[in-house]
Amino acid sequence: MHLRNLGFSKLTYSEVILTIRYEDIVNIAPIGVLLEDDKHLSLRVYKGQRICELISKGAIDCVLNITRNPKLFYDAIFNKNAIPHHPSETVSSPRVEGCDAYVECSIVHVEDHREYVRVLLKPQLTKTYPRIARTYNRAEPAVIEALICFTKIIHLIENNLEAAESLKERIKIFREIVHHSTRNEKLRMMITEILERSEKMIRENTAVNKH
Ligand SMILES: Cc1cc2nc3c(=O)[nH]c(=O)nc-3n(C[C@H](O)[C@H](O)[C@H](O)COP(=O)(O)O)c2cc1C
Repeated sequence: MHLRNLGFSKLTYSEVILTIRYEDIVNIAPIGVLLEDDKHLSLRVYKGQRICELISKGAIDCVLNITRNPKLFYDAIFNKNAIPHHPSETVSSPRVEGCDAYVECSIVHVEDHREYVRVLLKPQLTKTYPRIARTYNRAEPAVIEALICFTKIIHLIENNLEAAESLKERIKIFREIVHHSTRNEKLRMMITEILERSEKMIRENTAVNKH
């Protein structure tokens, strides 16, 4: 299937779950992907994260696991070890179970920038499991947006407490959206956990700064 038909675009990031293997270490994390040209995709991976470390060490491939399931995004941040995965067809990095599609990629180029590395990928195989039509809901994207804010807080907390605070306020808005638009206890639990962890990180950091 053509990458554009899966939703990849040169203009808009596609948020996917990346699996990457280096030797016997497998790492799973959400990541944004852009289409470069008809045959290449690119990532921007911020330094200080495990994915970046595995790429710098020499990982040669990865899988883009395509899903809209907020629980998989949540687990890819908070419960990486709980995510079941199985072998891919053409690359050494595994696939996450239960996704709608998989793009198995070789890493063809890594470009070093000050705060991040830009990674060029060449897809080797695309496998899709098309689902029937689904309605849009507000709660699931709100959980994923809150996770993005949470991972930004992790990186900002030491140097920019004010920005971290403002991201936490944003998470509160996402929690309102979730509570307003669903009675699903699992989604409500996830958004509460994201907010509580953000508040805890900020509280602990404020305490450290005071001493
Ligand atoms: C939806 C979503 C998209 C993300 N996109 C990126 C990205 O494009 N680049 C990046 O460096 N981090 C991105 N992150 C943050 C990483 O996934 C997050 O920091 C993760 O914990 C890194 O895991 P690691 O330290 O095991 O590598 C994103 C997070 C979410 C929830």
